Amino acid sequence: MTSSPMPGPTVAEPVAPGARAPADSGLQSGRLIAPQAGGAPGVPMIAIDNVNKWYGDFQVLTNCSTAIVKGEVVVVCGPSGSGKSTLIKCVNALEPFQKGQITVDGTKVMDKATNLPKLRSRVGMVFQHFELFPHLSITENLTLAQRKVLRRPAEEAKKRGLDLLARVGLSAHASKYPGQLSGGQQQRVAIARALAMDPIVMLFDEPTSALDPEMVGEVLDVMVELARDGMTMMVVTHEMGFARKVADRVIFMDRGEIVEDATKDDFFGKPRSERAQQFLSKILQH
Ligand SMILES: Nc1ncnc2c1ncn2[C@@H]1O[C@H](COP(=O)(O)OP(=O)(O)O)[C@@H](O)[C@H]1O
Ligand SMILES: [Mg+2]
Repeated sequence: MTSSPMPGPTVAEPVAPGARAPADSGLQSGRLIAPQAGGAPGVPMIAIDNVNKWYGDFQVLTNCSTAIVKGEVVVVCGPSGSGKSTLIKCVNALEPFQKGQITVDGTKVMDKATNLPKLRSRVGMVFQHFELFPHLSITENLTLAQRKVLRRPAEEAKKRGLDLLARVGLSAHASKYPGQLSGGQQQRVAIARALAMDPIVMLFDEPTSALDPEMVGEVLDVMVELARDGMTMMVVTHEMGFARKVADRVIFMDRGEIVEDATKDDFFGKPRSERAQQFLSKILQH
Protein backbone atom coordinates (compact mmCIF):
# COMPACT_ATOMS: atom_id res chain seq x y z
CA MET A 1 0.00 0.00 0.00
CA THR A 2 1.23 3.47 -0.71
CA SER A 3 0.63 6.37 1.58
CA SER A 4 0.74 9.06 -1.07
CA PRO A 5 -2.62 10.78 -1.35
CA MET A 6 -4.31 10.28 -4.67
CA PRO A 7 -7.49 11.91 -5.82
CA GLY A 8 -10.55 9.95 -4.85
CA PRO A 9 -13.22 9.05 -7.34
CA THR A 10 -15.50 11.78 -8.52
CA VAL A 11 -18.83 12.11 -6.82
CA ALA A 12 -21.20 10.62 -9.33
CA GLU A 13 -24.44 12.15 -8.16
CA PRO A 14 -26.12 13.35 -5.00
CA VAL A 15 -28.46 11.09 -3.06
CA ALA A 16 -31.49 10.48 -5.25
CA PRO A 17 -34.44 12.73 -4.44
CA GLY A 18 -36.51 9.68 -3.64
CA ALA A 19 -34.07 8.35 -1.06
CA ARG A 20 -35.24 8.69 2.50
CA ALA A 21 -33.08 10.68 4.88
CA PRO A 22 -32.95 9.76 8.57
CA ALA A 23 -35.78 11.32 10.48
CA ASP A 24 -33.84 12.84 13.36
CA SER A 25 -31.54 15.31 11.69
CA GLY A 26 -31.11 14.27 8.11
CA LEU A 27 -28.03 13.40 6.13
CA GLN A 28 -25.85 16.38 5.55
CA SER A 29 -24.34 17.06 2.21
CA GLY A 30 -20.66 16.48 1.60
CA ARG A 31 -18.48 13.47 1.12
CA LEU A 32 -18.33 10.59 3.53
CA ILE A 33 -14.87 9.56 2.43
CA ALA A 34 -11.50 11.17 2.41
CA PRO A 35 -9.39 11.16 -0.74
CA GLN A 36 -7.89 7.73 -0.62
CA ALA A 37 -4.52 6.28 -1.31
CA GLY A 38 -4.20 3.11 -3.31
CA GLY A 39 -6.15 1.80 -6.20
CA ALA A 40 -3.39 1.68 -8.79
CA PRO A 41 -4.78 1.31 -12.30
CA GLY A 42 -5.44 -2.29 -13.21
CA VAL A 43 -4.98 -3.58 -9.65
CA PRO A 44 -8.23 -4.66 -8.03
CA MET A 45 -8.86 -3.23 -4.58
CA ILE A 46 -9.88 -6.71 -3.45
CA ALA A 47 -8.74 -9.79 -5.37
CA ILE A 48 -9.99 -13.16 -4.15
CA ASP A 49 -8.24 -15.97 -5.93
CA ASN A 50 -9.28 -19.60 -5.64
CA VAL A 51 -9.79 -19.40 -1.89
CA ASN A 52 -10.44 -22.66 -0.05
CA LYS A 53 -11.04 -22.91 3.65
CA TRP A 54 -11.76 -25.77 6.00
CA TYR A 55 -12.98 -25.91 9.57
CA GLY A 56 -11.46 -29.27 10.47
CA ASP A 57 -12.86 -31.68 7.88
CA PHE A 58 -15.65 -29.36 6.84
CA GLN A 59 -14.92 -27.34 3.72
CA VAL A 60 -16.56 -23.97 4.24
CA LEU A 61 -15.20 -22.21 1.12
CA THR A 62 -14.51 -23.91 -2.20
CA ASN A 63 -12.56 -22.26 -5.03
CA CYS A 64 -13.92 -18.79 -4.39
CA SER A 65 -12.66 -16.18 -6.86
CA THR A 66 -13.72 -12.64 -7.61
CA ALA A 67 -12.21 -9.19 -7.98
CA ILE A 68 -13.54 -5.85 -6.86
CA VAL A 69 -12.13 -2.70 -8.44
CA LYS A 70 -11.92 0.73 -6.90
CA GLY A 71 -15.31 2.33 -6.41
CA GLU A 72 -17.21 -0.86 -7.09
CA VAL A 73 -20.09 -1.96 -4.85
CA VAL A 74 -20.58 -5.72 -4.66
CA VAL A 75 -23.48 -7.29 -2.79
CA VAL A 76 -22.99 -10.83 -1.50
CA CYS A 77 -26.11 -12.86 -0.83
CA GLY A 78 -27.07 -16.47 -0.38
CA PRO A 79 -28.70 -18.84 2.10
CA SER A 80 -27.73 -18.92 5.75
CA GLY A 81 -24.59 -21.00 6.25
CA SER A 82 -23.39 -20.58 2.66
CA GLY A 83 -20.09 -19.00 3.75
CA LYS A 84 -20.77 -15.28 3.24
CA SER A 85 -19.47 -14.17 6.63
CA THR A 86 -16.51 -16.49 6.39
CA LEU A 87 -15.52 -15.12 2.98
CA ILE A 88 -15.80 -11.50 4.05
CA LYS A 89 -13.78 -12.20 7.21
CA CYS A 90 -11.03 -13.75 5.11
CA VAL A 91 -10.64 -10.41 3.32
CA ASN A 92 -9.31 -8.66 6.40
CA ALA A 93 -7.68 -11.78 7.82
CA LEU A 94 -10.11 -12.23 10.68
CA GLU A 95 -10.28 -15.82 9.44
CA PRO A 96 -7.29 -17.68 7.99
CA PHE A 97 -7.71 -19.81 4.86
CA GLN A 98 -5.65 -22.77 3.76
CA LYS A 99 -5.50 -22.40 -0.02
CA GLY A 100 -5.63 -19.57 -2.53
CA GLN A 101 -4.85 -15.92 -2.17
CA ILE A 102 -6.51 -12.64 -1.28
CA THR A 103 -4.93 -9.27 -1.91
CA VAL A 104 -6.22 -5.90 -0.77
CA ASP A 105 -4.83 -3.05 -2.84
CA GLY A 106 -2.02 -5.37 -3.90
CA THR A 107 -1.11 -6.48 -0.37
CA LYS A 108 -1.33 -10.22 0.32
CA VAL A 109 -3.60 -10.83 3.27
CA MET A 110 -2.09 -14.20 4.29
CA ASP A 111 1.56 -13.28 3.80
CA LYS A 112 3.71 -13.42 6.93
CA ALA A 113 5.42 -10.24 5.79
CA THR A 114 2.14 -8.30 5.75
CA ASN A 115 1.60 -5.84 8.54
CA LEU A 116 -1.88 -7.02 9.52
CA PRO A 117 -2.80 -4.22 11.95
CA LYS A 118 -1.90 -1.71 9.24
CA LEU A 119 -3.90 -3.60 6.62
CA ARG A 120 -6.91 -3.94 8.93
CA SER A 121 -6.79 -0.24 9.74
CA ARG A 122 -7.45 0.42 6.03
CA VAL A 123 -10.26 -2.11 5.71
CA GLY A 124 -13.38 -0.84 7.45
CA MET A 125 -15.70 -3.51 8.76
CA VAL A 126 -19.25 -3.14 10.00
CA PHE A 127 -20.97 -6.15 11.51
CA GLN A 128 -24.53 -7.03 12.35
CA HIS A 129 -23.96 -5.99 15.94
CA PHE A 130 -22.62 -2.53 16.31
CA GLU A 131 -19.87 -3.36 18.76
CA LEU A 132 -19.44 0.16 20.06
CA PHE A 133 -17.70 0.39 23.42
CA PRO A 134 -20.61 0.79 25.87
CA HIS A 135 -18.54 2.60 28.50
CA LEU A 136 -17.22 5.23 26.07
CA SER A 137 -19.10 8.24 24.75
CA ILE A 138 -19.92 8.43 21.04
CA THR A 139 -17.07 10.91 20.56
CA GLU A 140 -14.65 8.60 22.37
CA ASN A 141 -15.85 5.66 20.30
CA LEU A 142 -15.16 7.67 17.16
CA THR A 143 -11.68 8.80 18.18
CA LEU A 144 -10.13 5.85 20.05
CA ALA A 145 -8.80 3.87 17.09
CA GLN A 146 -7.76 7.00 15.22
CA ARG A 147 -5.58 7.93 18.17
CA LYS A 148 -4.28 4.47 19.10
CA VAL A 149 -3.84 2.96 15.65
CA LEU A 150 -3.30 5.96 13.38
CA ARG A 151 -1.64 8.01 16.16
CA ARG A 152 -3.67 11.05 15.27
CA PRO A 153 -3.46 13.98 17.64
CA ALA A 154 -6.55 14.27 19.87
CA GLU A 155 -7.90 17.43 18.25
CA GLU A 156 -7.53 16.11 14.74
CA ALA A 157 -9.17 12.80 15.65
CA LYS A 158 -12.05 14.63 17.32
CA LYS A 159 -12.57 16.90 14.34
CA ARG A 160 -12.62 13.97 11.93
CA GLY A 161 -14.94 11.98 14.21
CA LEU A 162 -17.40 14.81 14.71
CA ASP A 163 -17.36 15.67 11.03
CA LEU A 164 -18.35 12.11 10.19
CA LEU A 165 -20.93 12.08 12.96
CA ALA A 166 -22.50 15.12 11.31
CA ARG A 167 -22.45 13.41 7.95
CA VAL A 168 -24.46 10.50 9.33
CA GLY A 169 -26.88 12.97 10.88
CA LEU A 170 -26.05 12.45 14.54
CA SER A 171 -24.21 15.59 15.69
CA ALA A 172 -26.61 16.07 18.57
CA HIS A 173 -25.53 12.77 20.14
CA ALA A 174 -21.77 13.30 20.41
CA SER A 175 -21.58 13.19 24.19
CA LYS A 176 -24.11 10.41 24.73
CA TYR A 177 -23.27 6.76 25.40
CA PRO A 178 -24.17 3.97 22.95
CA GLY A 179 -26.93 2.68 25.25
CA GLN A 180 -28.75 5.99 24.88
CA LEU A 181 -29.02 5.61 21.11
CA SER A 182 -31.35 3.46 19.05
CA GLY A 183 -29.99 0.46 17.17
CA GLY A 184 -30.11 2.32 13.88
CA GLN A 185 -28.27 5.29 15.35
CA GLN A 186 -25.62 3.01 16.87
CA GLN A 187 -25.07 1.35 13.54
CA ARG A 188 -24.65 4.77 11.88
CA VAL A 189 -22.04 5.61 14.54
CA ALA A 190 -20.31 2.29 13.81
CA ILE A 191 -20.14 3.24 10.13
CA ALA A 192 -18.80 6.72 11.00
CA ARG A 193 -16.22 5.10 13.28
CA ALA A 194 -15.02 2.83 10.48
CA LEU A 195 -14.87 5.77 8.06
CA ALA A 196 -12.82 7.84 10.51
CA MET A 197 -9.93 5.47 9.81
CA ASP A 198 -9.94 6.56 6.15
CA PRO A 199 -10.45 3.02 4.88
CA ILE A 200 -9.69 2.14 1.27
CA VAL A 201 -12.48 -0.45 1.26
CA MET A 202 -15.50 -1.11 3.47
CA LEU A 203 -16.85 -4.54 4.34
CA PHE A 204 -20.36 -4.93 5.70
CA ASP A 205 -21.77 -8.16 7.13
CA GLU A 206 -25.57 -7.95 7.36
CA PRO A 207 -25.44 -4.47 8.90
CA THR A 208 -29.21 -4.10 9.09
CA SER A 209 -30.37 -7.59 9.97
CA ALA A 210 -30.38 -7.04 13.75
CA LEU A 211 -32.33 -3.79 13.50
CA ASP A 212 -35.99 -3.13 14.05
CA PRO A 213 -37.58 -2.66 10.63
CA GLU A 214 -38.16 1.07 11.03
CA MET A 215 -34.44 1.62 11.50
CA VAL A 216 -33.22 -0.27 8.47
CA GLY A 217 -33.80 2.66 6.09
CA GLU A 218 -31.65 5.17 7.94
CA VAL A 219 -28.65 2.81 7.90
CA LEU A 220 -29.14 1.90 4.25
CA ASP A 221 -29.34 5.63 3.41
CA VAL A 222 -25.85 6.13 4.84
CA MET A 223 -24.59 3.13 2.88
CA VAL A 224 -26.20 4.40 -0.32
CA GLU A 225 -24.52 7.76 0.15
CA LEU A 226 -21.20 6.06 0.80
CA ALA A 227 -21.56 4.01 -2.36
CA ARG A 228 -22.39 7.11 -4.36
CA ASP A 229 -19.35 8.85 -2.90
CA GLY A 230 -17.24 6.19 -4.59
CA MET A 231 -16.30 3.90 -1.70
CA THR A 232 -15.25 0.38 -2.66
CA MET A 233 -17.73 -1.83 -0.82
CA MET A 234 -18.35 -5.53 -0.28
CA VAL A 235 -21.73 -5.89 1.39
CA VAL A 236 -23.33 -9.07 2.69
CA THR A 237 -27.01 -8.24 2.78
CA HIS A 238 -30.42 -9.51 1.84
CA GLU A 239 -31.68 -5.98 1.27
CA MET A 240 -32.34 -6.37 -2.41
CA GLY A 241 -33.64 -2.80 -2.64
CA PHE A 242 -30.16 -1.65 -1.66
CA ALA A 243 -28.63 -4.02 -4.18
CA ARG A 244 -30.86 -2.72 -6.95
CA LYS A 245 -30.10 0.88 -6.07
CA VAL A 246 -26.32 0.87 -5.80
CA ALA A 247 -24.74 -2.51 -6.45
CA ASP A 248 -22.57 -2.88 -9.51
CA ARG A 249 -22.48 -6.64 -9.11
CA VAL A 250 -24.19 -9.32 -7.08
CA ILE A 251 -22.42 -12.44 -5.87
CA PHE A 252 -24.60 -15.38 -4.92
CA MET A 253 -23.07 -18.03 -2.66
CA ASP A 254 -24.32 -21.49 -1.83
CA ARG A 255 -22.55 -24.23 0.14
CA GLY A 256 -19.27 -22.38 0.20
CA GLU A 257 -19.14 -21.66 -3.51
CA ILE A 258 -19.62 -18.51 -5.54
CA VAL A 259 -22.42 -19.80 -7.74
CA GLU A 260 -23.08 -16.51 -9.53
CA ASP A 261 -21.06 -13.35 -9.96
CA ALA A 262 -23.10 -11.15 -12.22
CA THR A 263 -23.95 -7.55 -12.95
CA LYS A 264 -26.96 -6.35 -11.02
CA ASP A 265 -29.12 -6.32 -14.12
CA ASP A 266 -28.14 -9.83 -15.09
CA PHE A 267 -28.61 -11.15 -11.58
CA PHE A 268 -32.08 -9.72 -11.10
CA GLY A 269 -33.07 -10.10 -14.73
CA LYS A 270 -31.95 -13.61 -15.45
CA PRO A 271 -30.08 -15.49 -12.71
CA ARG A 272 -28.48 -18.42 -14.46
CA SER A 273 -28.45 -21.01 -11.71
CA GLU A 274 -31.50 -22.71 -10.36
CA ARG A 275 -30.21 -22.18 -6.84
CA ALA A 276 -30.07 -18.41 -7.30
CA GLN A 277 -33.50 -18.41 -8.90
CA GLN A 278 -34.96 -20.30 -5.95
CA PHE A 279 -33.23 -18.02 -3.48
CA LEU A 280 -34.46 -14.88 -5.22
CA SER A 281 -38.01 -16.13 -5.51
CA LYS A 282 -38.01 -16.85 -1.79
CA ILE A 283 -36.67 -13.51 -0.62
CA LEU A 284 -38.55 -11.40 -3.15
CA GLN A 285 -41.89 -12.95 -2.19
CA HIS A 286 -42.04 -10.74 0.87
N1 LIG B 1 -15.85 -21.29 13.76
C1 LIG B 1 -16.49 -22.21 13.05
N2 LIG B 1 -16.22 -23.52 13.20
C2 LIG B 1 -16.85 -24.46 12.47
N3 LIG B 1 -17.79 -24.20 11.53
C3 LIG B 1 -18.10 -22.91 11.32
C4 LIG B 1 -17.48 -21.85 12.07
N4 LIG B 1 -17.99 -20.67 11.62
C5 LIG B 1 -18.88 -20.99 10.67
N5 LIG B 1 -18.96 -22.32 10.49
C6 LIG B 1 -19.80 -23.01 9.52
O1 LIG B 1 -19.41 -22.57 8.24
C7 LIG B 1 -20.54 -22.44 7.39
C8 LIG B 1 -20.59 -21.04 6.84
O2 LIG B 1 -20.82 -20.11 7.88
P1 LIG B 1 -20.98 -18.57 7.61
O3 LIG B 1 -19.80 -18.08 6.85
O4 LIG B 1 -21.24 -17.92 8.92
O5 LIG B 1 -22.25 -18.52 6.67
P2 LIG B 1 -23.25 -17.32 6.32
O6 LIG B 1 -22.60 -16.05 6.75
O7 LIG B 1 -23.46 -17.42 4.85
O8 LIG B 1 -24.51 -17.60 7.06
C9 LIG B 1 -21.74 -22.80 8.23
O9 LIG B 1 -22.06 -24.15 7.95
C10 LIG B 1 -21.25 -22.65 9.64
O10 LIG B 1 -21.93 -23.52 10.51
MG1 LIG C 1 -23.27 -14.58 8.08
